[in-house]
Amino acid sequence: MAGLLNLCRATSRLGSLKRTYVVAAAVPKPDRNPEVKYTGIFINNEWHKSVSGKTFPTINPSTGEKICDVQEGDKADIDKAVKAANEAFKFGSEWRRMDAGKRGLLMYRLADLIERDIEYLTSLETLDNGKPFNVAYLGDLHLALQCYRYYAGWADKMEGKTIPVDGDFFAYTRHEPIGVAGQLIPWNFPILMMAWKLGPALASGCTVVLKTAEQTPLTANYIAQLAAEAGYPPGVLNVVPGYGPTAGAALAAHMDVDKLAFTGSTEVGQLVSQMASASNLKRITLEMGGKSPVVVLSDADLEDAVENCHFATFFNHGQCCIAGTRVYVEESIYDKFVEASVERARRRTVGDPFDPSNEMGPQIDDEQLGKILNLVDSGKKEGAKLAIGGHQIGDKGYFMEPTVFADCTDNMRIAREEIFGPVQSIFKFKSLDEVIERSNDSMYGLGGGIMSNDMDKVNYLIQGIRAGTIWINVYNKFDAAMPFGGYKMSGNGRELGEYALEGYTEVKTVCMRVLQKNS
Ligand code: NAI
Ligand code: MG
Repeated sequence: MAGLLNLCRATSRLGSLKRTYVVAAAVPKPDRNPEVKYTGIFINNEWHKSVSGKTFPTINPSTGEKICDVQEGDKADIDKAVKAANEAFKFGSEWRRMDAGKRGLLMYRLADLIERDIEYLTSLETLDNGKPFNVAYLGDLHLALQCYRYYAGWADKMEGKTIPVDGDFFAYTRHEPIGVAGQLIPWNFPILMMAWKLGPALASGCTVVLKTAEQTPLTANYIAQLAAEAGYPPGVLNVVPGYGPTAGAALAAHMDVDKLAFTGSTEVGQLVSQMASASNLKRITLEMGGKSPVVVLSDADLEDAVENCHFATFFNHGQCCIAGTRVYVEESIYDKFVEASVERARRRTVGDPFDPSNEMGPQIDDEQLGKILNLVDSGKKEGAKLAIGGHQIGDKGYFMEPTVFADCTDNMRIAREEIFGPVQSIFKFKSLDEVIERSNDSMYGLGGGIMSNDMDKVNYLIQGIRAGTIWINVYNKFDAAMPFGGYKMSGNGRELGEYALEGYTEVKTVCMRVLQKNS
């Protein structure tokens, strides 16, 4: 009975999560002290120590204390991993000769193994990243499973075309794996970003060197071991923990890497793009920052719109590239909307991520917390109205109060820069054309939201807003089948869906002469 009550409390706390996630399973009980099993560098299905002998600590963001030390990959380790990945990709290798259907099967197996160990993996993710256990379980883990299974299905369905050409020729295209894919992922969704990267890469038949984020190396290492258990041949997946400017840069600049996929800040995206071009012109896809607008029209159901906008900003502690952090509210409902949003933020529960009554855990590290507090300060100085929040909570770990600014104007830093924290900025607008122009007045173009049931206005806004994803009366609904990516400086290319496969394949044109019977 107590268990059921706890579950009810936990699910009632899920709020907006229920709108976006299929709540298929009851949330299990977390393990607060999951054992860390793999802290090495994963090359050729084996665990290695770093060539330099160096290690680095990974920190529990709830306490600021070290969880454990991890082997620190560097250029020499990236070289080893890239060599293994090239060897595994060699023409005639087990991986290259493997039936496409078998490639799919391995990925289904990997998903099954992740599901087998889902409680452990969710606990480890919560420990290393700080996101609430039930959010990680229903969100990150289930989306990752869905992603692997979605791409497993694609492995034997990547068809080319037959081309009707002039003359007596037979022309067709083959979609072939690009080769060795270098992948750089961030810390905000460690398991999920790994799935978004590995899904299309391994389904296409590429081999992979993945560099994890230095803040969150633990779960990717465990999943690497599961990939070996699933039966991926040695060298197909290699995982190197380490820092960006060393290991990350070595991967981006490597001459024997054929493709680079990056998720992180726009600043580093520009850097790795330059390295990719200056080295061997490797193909590149980028998923970067955002400052996504959410437009609330006066006809919207107020309570529903407030909840959606709250979730748009505060989901994952605001550490979300597509966070809807610029909320534009139509003049006639502005005051009511602000009041209700402040009340919603007041009710947001922040604390121990293993406690199911908490909607939000700590920010990832002191650097990010410092950046957020600095931007909050700039908002106050530039004249926005701090309606609630604005401070760190306690002095242990990196917890932050849910924060709402009202009366924001377009040139403030909090209106232009990615805060990557639990900070909502609310603006007032009068007309549709005005709000389209203001929504687009940003270097970013990752996402956007519209809260309204007036479909003519909704369609007008959909066409006007320049962003890779637009959600209507919902926000943060993800699905492996829906492409994800940015306009402008938010990115290049698309992840997820069929579109993502383009990032991991080359098109080979084959043309052969056909002799006619009578000639
Ligand atoms: P970052 O862009 O520095 O890190 C992302 C990944 O790139 C990590 O694996 C990192 O090790 C690697 N990296 C960093 N510098 C590199 C370099 N010189 N060469 C190659 N790889 C490099 O992001 P960071 O510092 O963790 O966060 C800074 C800001 O970036 C955040 O406040 C947020 O605004 C944004 N960000 C956006 C993310 C997104 O999902 N689009 C994810 C993480 C951060
Ligand atoms: Mg950085």
